[in-house]
Amino acid sequence: MTPPLLFTLFIFILFPTITTPSPSLPLPPTPSPTSPPSSSSSKPSSPSTSTSTLDPKQITALQSLNIPTSKDPCSQPSFHNATLCDSSKPFRHLISLTLSNCSSYLSLSFTALKSLSSLHTLTLFNCPVAPIHFPPQLITSLKSFTCINSLRKVSGVWLSQLQNLTDLTVSNVQVKASGPYVILSHMKNLNSITISHANLTGFLPGHIHSNLTHIDFSGNQLKGNIPFSITMLDSLESLNLSSNVLTGEIPSSIGDLISLKNLSLASNSFSGSIPDSISAVPGLVHLDLSSNQLNGSIPKFINQMKSLKYLNLANNNLHGVVPFNLTFIKRLEVFKVGGNSNLCYNHSVVSSKLKLGISPCDKHGMPLSPPPSKDSSADDSSDSDYDDSDDDSSSHKKDHHHGPNKFVLGVAIALSSIVFLIVFLIVCSKCCR
Ligand SMILES: *[C@@H]1O[C@H](CO)[C@@H](O)[C@H](O)[C@H]1NC(C)=O
Ligand SMILES: *[C@@H]1O[C@H](CO)[C@@H](O)[C@H](O)[C@H]1NC(C)=O
Ligand SMILES: *[C@@H]1O[C@H](CO)[C@@H](O)[C@H](O)[C@H]1NC(C)=O
Ligand SMILES: *[C@@H]1O[C@H](CO)[C@@H](O)[C@H](O)[C@H]1NC(C)=O
Ligand SMILES: *[C@@H]1O[C@H](CO)[C@@H](O)[C@H](O)[C@H]1NC(C)=O
Ligand SMILES: *[C@@H]1O[C@H](CO)[C@@H](O)[C@H](O)[C@H]1NC(C)=O
Ligand SMILES: *[C@@H]1O[C@H](CO)[C@@H](O)[C@H](O)[C@H]1NC(C)=O
Ligand SMILES: *[C@@H]1O[C@H](CO)[C@@H](O)[C@H](O)[C@H]1NC(C)=O
Ligand SMILES: *[C@@H]1O[C@H](CO)[C@@H](O)[C@H](O)[C@H]1NC(C)=O
Ligand SMILES: *[C@@H]1O[C@H](CO)[C@@H](O)[C@H](O)[C@H]1NC(C)=O
Repeated sequence: MTPPLLFTLFIFILFPTITTPSPSLPLPPTPSPTSPPSSSSSKPSSPSTSTSTLDPKQITALQSLNIPTSKDPCSQPSFHNATLCDSSKPFRHLISLTLSNCSSYLSLSFTALKSLSSLHTLTLFNCPVAPIHFPPQLITSLKSFTCINSLRKVSGVWLSQLQNLTDLTVSNVQVKASGPYVILSHMKNLNSITISHANLTGFLPGHIHSNLTHIDFSGNQLKGNIPFSITMLDSLESLNLSSNVLTGEIPSSIGDLISLKNLSLASNSFSGSIPDSISAVPGLVHLDLSSNQLNGSIPKFINQMKSLKYLNLANNNLHGVVPFNLTFIKRLEVFKVGGNSNLCYNHSVVSSKLKLGISPCDKHGMPLSPPPSKDSSADDSSDSDYDDSDDDSSSHKKDHHHGPNKFVLGVAIALSSIVFLIVFLIVCSKCCR
């Protein structure tokens, strides 16, 4: 065999794909774009629901709200999942309605809402329509009301009439009220309340008589401290009071919130120390106390919190030695302690590679040097504090996307040169004998 022939044979055995790349590549993409629409459009229409089963009055109401009714609104999935019906006879009735991205000319008429009084769930998303007067039947029926970036502005008194709600979400809407109490006091069945980014003022209510599981008052102007009424809520699973102007100490009764999973008190003006009792909350997953004026040392009992995944204590006045070892820190998904100028880490326990944004300790447990400013800014901006490989992997993906053939080609050329060299040497040594 001549060297060139041997060479081609080698290449062909090693890289059979490289010789025939072009025919196989364009084939798979062509059928895929056409197949999903055809299969999904054929699925929902079953023969029994070919004519509308919805109450004709409600069909008229939907049409006045610009919701297409050419397809039965009760068939699932409906247009943008905007409608959901019960199974009553002879006509079905709407139990859930979502209005999203409405035109500002849309009017929610009293007549339309009156014929929609079967609704349990009403969601307004990006609907800058004029505030509405709800008919009493709808008020009685509504269990869940969501208003995100809609209605321009609502008052606490208006919200408080929705007395049968179990879920209330109001976000990115100005809420005018003297405090959350105005809204909460009449809603005895409420499980979940979100009033966020609403410029809500006043104090947290001193009395809450309900089985609340979720409270989110983030991004408002609430002031004062955390009252006992909050720490008495046995069923509370998440409490988000971040980005308000709350003050005072975190009460040690916070440890009584036995169902709590998520707690954020970030970006307020809480002072004093972190209560040890916080480590008594058995299922706490997410703890964010960042950007306050908390002082004292970090309670070491936090290292016994088995469920904890997210711990952010950054930007406070905490001092002393970080009481955690590498095993504990590595188990967390997010761990931030930067921005505490008197806090330090024991370099024989915690590696400096973690880039915690604080200095190592001297033998007295004091910071050795001012913390490197570069590290602390990196700490603030990224969630993956000790995973520098993140950027690499994302850039790898990019490369992979448009360059696999170039990569294979490069390897092929390199390998074939080596093979060629070996073959050449063998042939050469035989010739020279
Ligand atoms: C409708 O809801 C279903 C289930 O909740 C979901 O899988 C689907 O993606 C939604 N469709 C649209 C268009 O939002
Ligand atoms: C509303 O608009 C947002 C973005 O502006 C878009 O992501 C969303 O899919 C839209 N929703 C509907 C139901 O059209
Ligand atoms: C709440 O619902 C019940 C029936 O479930 C009804 O009797 C009551 O009047 C409703 N309350 C309000 C304030 O509408
Ligand atoms: C809250 O108030 C600020 C400043 O007064 C304003 O810029 C912002 O738009 C208000 N937010 C809402 C949801 O109205
Ligand atoms: C709270 O829940 C318990 C049991 O889940 C129930 O017995 C009680 O009536 C509820 N209280 C209120 C105010 O809803
Ligand atoms: C609670 O925290 C977890 C983990 O950080 C997060 O994935 C989840 O969305 C949060 N849940 C609520 C209700 O805030
Ligand atoms: C609290 O609310 C803020 C802003 O609304 C959000 O960014 C954060 O993820 C929430 N935290 C928890 C624990 O739910
Ligand atoms: C923490 O701050 C409070 C005032 O907010 C002060 O009374 C207390 O002495 C401080 N504790 C420490 C350990 O610095
Ligand atoms: C690290 O701390 C945990 C408590 O959070 C402890 O159980 C474990 O034994 C410690 N590991 C080492 C290597 O010291
Ligand atoms: C750092 O850890 C070592 C080993 O656990 C211990 O002997 C030493 O006292 C610690 N130093 C400080 C300042 O806590």
